Amino acid sequence: MGKKSFYITTPIYYVNDIPHIGHAYTTIACDVMSRYKRMKGFDTRFLTGTDEHGQKIQTAAEAKGMTPQELVDKIHVNFKELWKVLNISNDDFIRTTEPRHIRVVQAMFKKLMEQGDIYKGSYEGWYCVPCETYVPESSMGENRTCPDCGRELITMKEESYFFKASKYVPRLIEHYEKNLQGVMPRVRYNEIMSFLRGEVRDQSVSRTTLKWGIPIPGDEKHVVYVWFDALINYATAVGYLDDPRMFERYWPVVRHMVGKDIIRFHCVIWPLMLLALGLDVPVSVIAHGWWTVDGEKMSKSKGNVVDPFKMAEVYGADAFRYFLLREVPFGNDGDFSEAALVGRINSDLANDLGNLLNRTLQMIVSYADGVVPAAGGGGENKNPLDAEIRALGEATVAAVDRAMETFSYDEALKLIWAFIGRGNKYIDETTPWKLQKDGDAERLNSVLLTLYEILRLSALLVAPYIPASAEKIWKQLGLSGSPLSVELDGFRWTDGAGTAVAKAEVLFPRIDLEQWKKDRAAQAAPNEEEKTIEHEPEIGIDEFRSVEMRVAQILEVEEIPRSKKLYKLSVDLGYERRTVCAGIKPFFKPEELKGHRIVMVTNLKPAKLCGIESNGMILAASVRDGEAAEQVSLIAPASDIPLGSRVR
Ligand code: ME8
Ligand code: MG
Repeated sequence: MGKKSFYITTPIYYVNDIPHIGHAYTTIACDVMSRYKRMKGFDTRFLTGTDEHGQKIQTAAEAKGMTPQELVDKIHVNFKELWKVLNISNDDFIRTTEPRHIRVVQAMFKKLMEQGDIYKGSYEGWYCVPCETYVPESSMGENRTCPDCGRELITMKEESYFFKASKYVPRLIEHYEKNLQGVMPRVRYNEIMSFLRGEVRDQSVSRTTLKWGIPIPGDEKHVVYVWFDALINYATAVGYLDDPRMFERYWPVVRHMVGKDIIRFHCVIWPLMLLALGLDVPVSVIAHGWWTVDGEKMSKSKGNVVDPFKMAEVYGADAFRYFLLREVPFGNDGDFSEAALVGRINSDLANDLGNLLNRTLQMIVSYADGVVPAAGGGGENKNPLDAEIRALGEATVAAVDRAMETFSYDEALKLIWAFIGRGNKYIDETTPWKLQKDGDAERLNSVLLTLYEILRLSALLVAPYIPASAEKIWKQLGLSGSPLSVELDGFRWTDGAGTAVAKAEVLFPRIDLEQWKKDRAAQAAPNEEEKTIEHEPEIGIDEFRSVEMRVAQILEVEEIPRSKKLYKLSVDLGYERRTVCAGIKPFFKPEELKGHRIVMVTNLKPAKLCGIESNGMILAASVRDGEAAEQVSLIAPASDIPLGSRVR
């Protein structure tokens, strides 16, 4: 028998968005599970990637003046970079624009069409453009809005291919009745079952309204609906078409981790597609809850989107990883606050784990010349307190394993930290400094040995969660290799005697709360301003060049009787004179303008303002600072230069 295998996936993220804490959360959860399973000796496969087709991407590309391909090529890299920064150990990264994927989508589409499970029809309904879903009348929000994003729905009618989802519903219900872990946690299972027992309609799986998608073989005015395309990624990446052996190895053990926003796609549509294709339904779809930030929904317009790059940079990737999985029971919604993160760094990481390591190493250095001593008395350690600790260690390994089976990350961490806490208490109970003073070497040695073993085990247990820190602990304990390559199943309470420990180094520096608050207050001020700055979309150099700007001199300034804002200016460009209307009357007196050199746009289409033809536009900077009056300043060349000189 070969090794048992384990295959886990994240959703593939849309590349129209920059990665945020939500994406980081799902991916970290999968990473921790993968690392844990590898330590348990599983042949593990961990997949993540990006969802690169569909309306959202096409719209985002248009807004940026790029082709969709250019956009996805550029933006998907953000995700790859974040996974590096967060120490994510994915085995593969799939992009839905890759040829390997396009081939599989087309092959599956064709197969379903040939067997009559995809048919052509026409579809009319209320449609949410950003979410790319038709919304049934019954679940529309007020004033025909999308129940998910709140935006207005439009009516849409199109020729469409349909997948006969309804045909396979009874089989899926039967499957879930026998496999209660098919959807986790239980609340989501119940939600899905009641949905399945209602009316599941055939699904529209093609679009004629956009171009950016996978063409349907033989009917190229249609592209595959983005969700039908996206879900298939999980099968593509383990060789559905190209590598049957790999597919056999991983497909039967696939688990999808997702946020609760997309469970219908994963627990209903996708399994129905798989049943139609004659493939196994996923072992589990694990749905986690939703993060808010300081009690509010995250949104770009609120400017409260948590940037995981910044969190990792400021607090360290491990602290961020630990916090996300410890803070909320997996499956529940959670609220992110930096203050809570700092709190956990100080208490759990610096205080509990960091101190246990430091105190232990320092005692081994001071009392045993830096080498883990042999158990007192040279024989088996029969001390009842030590036996209790050892039993707790072994029980913790087993309990953590049960927690990981049900994806209860927070439970697992609580168990590990209970053990770490027991270690700190053990130091207080055994008072090694007194044993040293009293010359009780026998007991002192047993205590140091026990402490050393508590730390070795702790390093192993925390390794999937905070891999970089676990490696550091391992080194400081004087151990070679990596805790991540130790087989957890083989864990035995062992005798580390004779190992020379390394120098103690601070793993998680305590954050000074007073200073932290001050720094945050200082940062908050400029941020406020930043939020109100509106930027234009990026432009190319050619677009910039097409604006012709030249140096000119104001010769005459006339008031326009009917206008409060406008002056009629006559300007000299050196090679010609022009009349220009400028809305600067509230800011300047005529004598403040006359004779001044300025910069103007010379190729703007003439426009009639208050009956006067204006032939150009003079440039000025302006700012409105809160309630204060608007300030305006003319743009002028900084030194003498002939009139008519081009500004570039
Ligand atoms: O839905 N809290 O991609 P997406 C927790 N491309 N998790 C969050 C979150 C939050 N506030 N925000 C996002 C898509 N997530 C499709 C998936 S799969 C075949 C196609 C996480 O970029 C969570 O995992 O909108 C959620 O399911 C996912 O990001 C949605 O990512
Ligand atoms: Mg989304």
